[in-house]
Amino acid sequence: MTEHNNSLDYKINGKSPKVAIVLGSGLGPLAESLEDSWEIPYTEIPGFPVSTVEGHEGKLCFGMLSGLPVVCMKGRVHYYEGYSMRDVTFPVRFLHGIGVEQILLTNAAGGIRDGFKVGTIMVIEDHISSFVPSPFIGLSAEEYGGKRFVDMTKIYNTETLVRAADAEKIAVEKGIYLQTTGPEYESPAEVRMFRTLGADVVGMSTTVEAAMANALGMKVHGLSCVTNLAAGLGKGVLSHEEVKIAADRTSEKLVRIVKRFLSLIREEEEGAPSASEVNGGADTSAEKKSMKEITLFTDGAARSNPDGPGGYGAVLIYKDSTGKEHTMETSQGYEKTTNNRMEMMAVIEGLSLLKEPCKVTVHSDSQYVINAFNKGWLTKWIAAGWKRGKDPVKNVDLWKKMLKAMEPHEVTFVWVRGHVGNPLNERCDELATTAADKGPWLVDEVYISGNS
Ligand code: HPA
Repeated sequence: MTEHNNSLDYKINGKSPKVAIVLGSGLGPLAESLEDSWEIPYTEIPGFPVSTVEGHEGKLCFGMLSGLPVVCMKGRVHYYEGYSMRDVTFPVRFLHGIGVEQILLTNAAGGIRDGFKVGTIMVIEDHISSFVPSPFIGLSAEEYGGKRFVDMTKIYNTETLVRAADAEKIAVEKGIYLQTTGPEYESPAEVRMFRTLGADVVGMSTTVEAAMANALGMKVHGLSCVTNLAAGLGKGVLSHEEVKIAADRTSEKLVRIVKRFLSLIREEEEGAPSASEVNGGADTSAEKKSMKEITLFTDGAARSNPDGPGGYGAVLIYKDSTGKEHTMETSQGYEKTTNNRMEMMAVIEGLSLLKEPCKVTVHSDSQYVINAFNKGWLTKWIAAGWKRGKDPVKNVDLWKKMLKAMEPHEVTFVWVRGHVGNPLNERCDELATTAADKGPWLVDEVYISGNS
């Protein structure tokens, strides 16, 4: 991707972080190990909730850790601060929006299971979220992956964390995390109830974030640090001070586990077959060098009658290995819709004809499409949870489709007034405006890779 992609402002050395770590108590120091790092306070990200809890900072830290580009959330907000669960889980949707695929949620928790001590580290294998409101209430299904009723059969991945702990020779347990609303700690009777229900630890975060990440298709990992025995199980009373001190004491071990965890993910990524290998064994580096350069001209037009159909078309131009220029018209379609949607469909159509990763320059006369990328509007919309005020941003599905279509390619957008420079200028306009009368059709079964 070029700089004109959706994660314009959220990269490290030009790379988008694929892994996010939510730093609970005790893991703050991890952010200090980041290399090539930069940070942004939550206050500068539209819609991002800001913590009011003492000891919880509020910033996203980007950087390289164990050789991987990562983003750390230093500070999270809790339901007990008065935020809705929708706000509490905003950061997860945001991280997903900037391209994060795996999330590690960490927390401090009270130990319930017999044998758990201050300093026990638990890899979360499942959770009980029934004592807090669902984070999906008040959101449209589209905002959390598209399905209203989300499956929660397997939320957490435990394998990588357990392997990381083993490799570091640090003992960990696997168990169940139960979330309460807080901010008060539990009563001993409640702790007995939670134990009966199968909880191993109790805390005031994590399950709603995990559920949201799961709905969005992210790989979720969870780590609890037992900072105290839950009420009634230890001596004395509970205090936030005690929790913070115990978390800090476990910090060194947690940091080691997380660094090793990231190394394992990096190894998994390096060992995994690349997309091109899956598609037929081509060597990625060789493929990069020989990436074809494509120019994609697009056009979309809607009729003045808002109920009338519009049409779109796209033209691809590329040179083959002998330098000969080829032009291709993509399929075209029509819809009862607006110019902007037509333009996006043309771009999606054009990109989806490319069978292999290409360098694509999209020439479009749609300022909406161009600015969304070149001015970072798309990033802002993602940051705002795809909302403007209370309204979902229209076209969100198409934007997602377009990002997906762009993914394999290096895409640059160029604005051209009225298709200046387009050798198929009139044809492109004609395609766009006559598509409505003719209906969708395919010019040819043409694929770039088959033509050179
Ligand atoms: N209960 C709830 N949340 C907690 C606890 C606890 O005992 N310890 C740390 N966070």
